Amino acid sequence: MIIGVPKEIKNNENRVALTPAGAQELVKRGHQVFVQHTAGEGSGFADDDYTAAGAAILPTIEDVYAIAEMIIKVKEPIEPEYKLIKEGQLLFTYFHFASYEPLTKAMVESKSVCLAYETVEKMDRSLPLLVPMSEVAGRMAVQKGANYLEKPLKGRGILLGGVPGVLPAKVLILGGGIVGTQAAWMAAGLGADVTIMDVSIPRMRYLADVMPANVKTMMSNEYNVRDMIKDADLIVGAVLIPGAKAPHLITRDMLKDMKPGTVLVDVAVDQGGCIETCKPTTHENPTYIIDDVVHYCVANMPGAVPYTSTLALTNATLPYAIQLANKGWKKAAQENPELVPGLNVIHGDIVYKAVAEAFDMDYVPVEKYLVD
Ligand SMILES: NC(=O)c1ccc[n+]([C@@H]2O[C@H](COP(=O)([O-])OP(=O)(O)OC[C@H]3O[C@@H](n4cnc5c(N)ncnc54)[C@H](O)[C@@H]3O)[C@@H](O)[C@H]2O)c1
Repeated sequence: MIIGVPKEIKNNENRVALTPAGAQELVKRGHQVFVQHTAGEGSGFADDDYTAAGAAILPTIEDVYAIAEMIIKVKEPIEPEYKLIKEGQLLFTYFHFASYEPLTKAMVESKSVCLAYETVEKMDRSLPLLVPMSEVAGRMAVQKGANYLEKPLKGRGILLGGVPGVLPAKVLILGGGIVGTQAAWMAAGLGADVTIMDVSIPRMRYLADVMPANVKTMMSNEYNVRDMIKDADLIVGAVLIPGAKAPHLITRDMLKDMKPGTVLVDVAVDQGGCIETCKPTTHENPTYIIDDVVHYCVANMPGAVPYTSTLALTNATLPYAIQLANKGWKKAAQENPELVPGLNVIHGDIVYKAVAEAFDMDYVPVEKYLVD
């Protein structure tokens, strides 16, 4: 198969969808890989690294779209790319269709085949191509939180791990899923006094088994949250209710109960945030202060560490990309049910129910395209 890797053109997006190692794996299997000039630069990969791995470099994004049977990307195509997409071309990338109608309509009109990273689903209902970014964001939440606790950045001026003779900082993590667990590992590793709150007893039982002694678990309810925020130095928001807006576990009136200089990192901000006073911020201007409480609410945290994020993402996407290249999307989906929910748009039909419903458009069951 002919595979194209365009350079991401979305603002501040430095990730790339294929590393030189990934290119080598595809070339080794008899595929041709074309990478746009400087596509890997933001993640630390030079054009020469790709050519050494057997890929070819093309000068422009138009060249890449024109030659490729499968395009592998990171972010959804943006407006200037719409016209480059060809009928029947396979696009394997994040789409988040339900959040943007013009993209959905453009992909329907293109008659391409859109396989979305975010809806590829394992048998246990986990989302293998979303997990790596949650892992990055969870770990980063503590790195950022520790930083903003410093006095010159308006934090309390407390060192996360303390020092001999001085107690460490208290870290409260709301939600003990992927983000919360990774945040807890980082905070615990730095020596902080960590509490994870969740509503799932099996999840807390698991966390209590695997976490070190400086991590405790506690049932999440309003009473307990109100009690715990009074002493917390860093609070990480990591709650997710699939398909729904995050619940506001910390409301505006609770800020007055916190210590001045407390830092809030609401990772769940992309789902509306679990802290009422959080609104999305950017890496250029990541924080703001309300009632002496520092709010960090960057909606695309992994974007700040493109090297790590690219490797984490491509580790997860490459096995699927290889299947798609080897077999074509139809046979690959017939043989691997994890890919089936990834199919969102095929030849002008929306085959993912929630996307069709989001915009009141026609829905065609994906099975229509999977029979021989
Ligand atoms: N800002 C970013 O850059 C970024 C990056 C990656 C992920 N995220 C977001 O982070 C959030 C968490 O993602 P995840 O992968 O950890 O999800 P997850 O599903 O693995 O974990 C969510 C956890 O929240 C718990 N929960 C649900 N209701 C709760 C409540 N009332 N109180 C306490 N816990 C509750 C669940 O039991 C679960 O353990 C999501 O909104 C995700 O989109 C943001």
